[in-house]
Amino acid sequence: MKVLWDDKIVDRNEVEIDMEDRGYQFGDGLYEVIRAYNGTFFTADEHIDRLFTGAKKIDLVLPFTKNELKERLYKLMRENEIETGNIYFQVTRGIAIPRDHSYPDPTKVPAVFTASTTKVPRDQAKMDRGISVITLPDMRWLHCDIKSISLLGNVMAKHEAHKVGAEEAIQHREGIVTEGASTNMWMVKDGVIYTHPDGNLVLPGITKIVLLDVARKAGIPVKEEAFTLEQLKNADEVFSSSTTIEAMPIIEIDGVKVNDGKRGPVVKQLQDLYVKAVEDVCGEVR
Ligand SMILES: Cc1ncc(COP(=O)(O)O)c(C=O)c1O
Repeated sequence: MKVLWDDKIVDRNEVEIDMEDRGYQFGDGLYEVIRAYNGTFFTADEHIDRLFTGAKKIDLVLPFTKNELKERLYKLMRENEIETGNIYFQVTRGIAIPRDHSYPDPTKVPAVFTASTTKVPRDQAKMDRGISVITLPDMRWLHCDIKSISLLGNVMAKHEAHKVGAEEAIQHREGIVTEGASTNMWMVKDGVIYTHPDGNLVLPGITKIVLLDVARKAGIPVKEEAFTLEQLKNADEVFSSSTTIEAMPIIEIDGVKVNDGKRGPVVKQLQDLYVKAVEDVCGEVR
């Protein structure tokens, strides 16, 4: 497998990440993941835009234009012959010596970029079946809109879920549901779909944008409104969303079944609409 290291395609074992890299030292960087179906990226521009927006928010000077980045990502996908799979890429604020919390001069310290690919087929059986989750307090910082590589809060939440055999952790701030450790969170009540509005408490998910769009076009009522743990536990359906899992039914929360432990009709409809949106861009989804 080849990877991208700055603007070069190299073998993974050729990459040298300096121990003074600010990503390694401080978690000072951003990342993204784009999914490809049949060799074509889905919503690549939206992901790239989010990277550029995040970079602006943290004054990180990116060493490429949006088009250059997209071309490089496609080149790596083709090199690795990825048809359906994911490309993860991240950029850090570079190698600054001596170690110092404050930002280095970007004209002297260039950002460091890497990208890698994985072949990941769609797990249709899992999307039909759904997953179990836990709930826990959101212990993360207050810039959750930035797709930062500092993921310790998310990692800890996911670990708590895995310890009890669950797959995701629904985080809440004083009883208000924010999002999952690596997903946006949704509930359905009386035919209306709810998800937390964008802002500093959740990542502005690209899958969320697509799902909101297809739902609205299909005439399904949608409210970008925060909901409580209490409402979540009384919801008709619950699901999570992300680039890598699309819309994933949640069939058990803290050991209590949702919708009798089965995928509900609204999430099924959204899954179908999402696939249709993917197919419009990438061709038939299998
Ligand atoms: C914390 C968090 N929220 C939401 C999402 C979903 O975002 P997207 O739909 O852009 O993949 C992710 C994806 O990685 C995430 O890490």
